[in-house]
Amino acid sequence: MTLDVSALDRPVQPGQFFHIRCSDNWKHPLRRPLSVYNYDHESHCLEFLYLVKGNGTQQMTLMRKGDTLSLLGPLGHGFTLPDQGALLLIARGVGVATLHALARQARSENMEVHVIMSARTPGDLLTVDTLSRLGATVYTVTDQEGTSSVESVRALSETLICEEGISAIYTCGSSRLGKLVQELAETYHLKGELATEAHMACGIGDCYACACTIRKGNQLKTVRVCTEGPVFPISQAVLQ
Ligand SMILES: Cc1cc2nc3c(=O)[nH]c(=O)nc-3n(C[C@H](O)[C@H](O)[C@H](O)COP(=O)(O)OP(=O)(O)OC[C@H]3O[C@@H](n4cnc5c(N)ncnc54)[C@H](O)[C@@H]3O)c2cc1C
Ligand code: FES
Repeated sequence: MTLDVSALDRPVQPGQFFHIRCSDNWKHPLRRPLSVYNYDHESHCLEFLYLVKGNGTQQMTLMRKGDTLSLLGPLGHGFTLPDQGALLLIARGVGVATLHALARQARSENMEVHVIMSARTPGDLLTVDTLSRLGATVYTVTDQEGTSSVESVRALSETLICEEGISAIYTCGSSRLGKLVQELAETYHLKGELATEAHMACGIGDCYACACTIRKGNQLKTVRVCTEGPVFPISQAVLQ
């Protein structure tokens, strides 16, 4: 979904999200969070990439060119880039929507970007061409081809870490991949960040619908994904 957001007067960071009113229908009063997929501040063009899950996202598919949409954002804390070195992004399915803007920003600063993209089937792999056009190197793995197990992704990641000067590693969503990224960041002393997902109501810190647990030092702490996140240092993630 592509929007003209000329009225937006603040910068948008990769990993931040917008809280979207999916329809004017009173049956859908709660907004839905979507990450920034792409933002071009010169053309004021904001893009989202979303999977149709339930009522809210279904309603969004009914919008047509010229319609207007109520957006709250940009919200939350986004990703931070390393001072130097290459980035490794590990995405599963539509999770690539969240990491795409990060790849774009890193490439605009001439940083090398490697993306491991995982999906159920080759047909489910998203944005491979767009990422390649940005200059990222994309490696695809799928369940159908038997290449997407955690062990296969670990082996590929370790090769890239050792051979491509990776200094930072990023992922989102999947706790399987989150745990892997946590282990890799610890073992290889990499900067690591995870974009988390949670069900949200207000999106601005007032309701605690999105509360999750993170680890700070030896302590567990309850935080709100919408305000303290959605991006957290991977070392703080408590993954089930
Ligand atoms: C910060 C953030 C960024 C996001 N960015 C994107 C994005 O870029 N693209 C995208 O496709 N999706 C993204 N999501 C997920 C997206 O918000 C949900 O898929 C959407 O809210 C579903 O709304 P719905 O009304 O269509 O479905 P609902 O009817 O609300 O839900 C349909 C099903 O999905 C489950 N579900 C709903 N929301 C979530 C959630 N947040 N996590 C896990 N399960 C959920 C419900 O339990 C239900 O089973 C993001 C979520 C967060 C928190
Ligand atoms: S959604 Fe209300 S506090 Fe996060």
